[in-house]
Amino acid sequence: MNQSMDRKTFLSYLGTGAAALAAASAGLGTLEGKASAASPTADHLFGFKTNKVSGYFDPIQPSKEDNLIIPRNFKYDVVAAFDDVINQAGEKFGQGADYNAYFPINGSSTRGLLVTNHEYTNIFLLGPIVDGKMTPDQIQKDLYYQGMSVIEVYRDEKGTWKMDTSSKYSRRINGFTKFDITGPAKGSPALYNATAAQGTFANCSGGVTLWNTVLSCEENYADTAATAKLPDTHYGWVVEIDPFEHSFRKKHTALGRFNHENTAMGMTADGRVVVYMGDDKKDACIYKFISKGKYNKARGRANSALLEDGTLYVANLKSGRWVPVTIGEVTRVLSNDNFKNPYGVSAKKEDLQKKFKSQADVVAFCHEAALLVGGTPTDRPEDIEISPFDNTVFICHTNNDTHGNIHGHITRIFESGNDLGALEFDFEIFAAGGRQSGFSSPDNLAFDSNGNLWVVTDISTSSHNKGVYKTFMNNGLFVIPTNGPGKGAAMQFASAPIDSELTGPYFTPDEQTLFLSVQHPGEMTTDLNNPTSTWPHRPGDKKARCGVVAISGFKLG
Ligand code: FEO
Ligand code: CA
Ligand code: CA
Repeated sequence: MNQSMDRKTFLSYLGTGAAALAAASAGLGTLEGKASAASPTADHLFGFKTNKVSGYFDPIQPSKEDNLIIPRNFKYDVVAAFDDVINQAGEKFGQGADYNAYFPINGSSTRGLLVTNHEYTNIFLLGPIVDGKMTPDQIQKDLYYQGMSVIEVYRDEKGTWKMDTSSKYSRRINGFTKFDITGPAKGSPALYNATAAQGTFANCSGGVTLWNTVLSCEENYADTAATAKLPDTHYGWVVEIDPFEHSFRKKHTALGRFNHENTAMGMTADGRVVVYMGDDKKDACIYKFISKGKYNKARGRANSALLEDGTLYVANLKSGRWVPVTIGEVTRVLSNDNFKNPYGVSAKKEDLQKKFKSQADVVAFCHEAALLVGGTPTDRPEDIEISPFDNTVFICHTNNDTHGNIHGHITRIFESGNDLGALEFDFEIFAAGGRQSGFSSPDNLAFDSNGNLWVVTDISTSSHNKGVYKTFMNNGLFVIPTNGPGKGAAMQFASAPIDSELTGPYFTPDEQTLFLSVQHPGEMTTDLNNPTSTWPHRPGDKKARCGVVAISGFKLG
């Protein structure tokens, strides 16, 4: 945290926020007013007139403890952990909990469906992998415990959040679940003519749509696909599910195939749907997809078809332009007599011309196509959020040690004319990781309705408490105001257990509960009798279990 920020200063920030909100209710121009002026986003605040102050807390200090530490007067309940039974069929909660999204049942902020991504498996599930080769049983488990969970959660009369295993909605979606393929690569040679795919895995972050479904992102899919002998090009997509209806499952190829981190959905000034996406790899790009058709609220889930037809763009940060990633552009670039390989593309021009014959090829091998048309290689773009207050776009660039960006930064994009459909933009470095800010390696993001950005960090486990990462100690959750006198200054809200990162922060509509995943505690463990973490410290249990907690204690302004 920012050591120079004392409690008095901190409270004065929130005081400013509260004053702005009071002005808002008096009709004096407000966050609410700005939000109304901006295009809708699929942020959790969309559709909710909350405007609550979520933020009163005493910032904590960095910690090396094997605990989830949160500010005083807050508490957390573990709502689901790895291998917990989630329903009457006996299905189990997956491993590697990441993105969370809460869907109210009958508008409730105390009972709803929680959708959680499961990104990967580890020793607490598989046991040791001998000679780097998984047994058939380990491969089965690897596929079963990745993917997604839909569970029903509620806050009981004592204020404790619990899972309702009698729910008719609770289910697993995993490496065995069939998905329909949509968009330009459906049935194409690049996908071995497939119109459906087996399963989803490596589900990292995601996003909600304007029509109340979840988009989930297949990130580091390659090892699982190779180990299970599944076709590589069937993974690395954005998948869509409807938490309330199991039969609706899509892989949207129009959004490109790469190491998808997340989606952030908004709307253009003329009513088309925009999806911002990061490719979490060193020297990879930022994308946005703009649908051809317009959003029509009355069509509900049928709006999903908007994700099947549109234009994918990549950011060129030097010119401030969104460049189309299309077969037309790729062909044009490759037909230039003066063609030179851009940084990151090593194949010969003739081979590239053979590889890229159609839009299906472009989306299936998207990173290479994006670099060809002028996409800027960046420093591991992870989560992206559209500010519900001013339509600026916040991107976590986690880090990139290949050229000295050790602590990462948060980039903020200003679309031309404040229109998410613009093809020109400017940007700033909104906040930079490092000693001066108190955080390193920003990853997932969430907004509260006071305009504060909630940022979790992902310092890789092998670097924890070492070298230049020492002062940050374990990974954490930070709050960074995006307006007012505290703008850009980070305050630490949570410290993660040993060897873990915090992922998937997501507020209920009333902002009285924050769901948060604890991912891969104890992942450096090599001897199951001597784990590096045993969080959540269940009595008699030597396993560290990733899971989702519900944090309560937020006070209104
Ligand atoms: Fe799965 Fe890029 O974090
Ligand atoms: Ca992430
Ligand atoms: Ca991560």
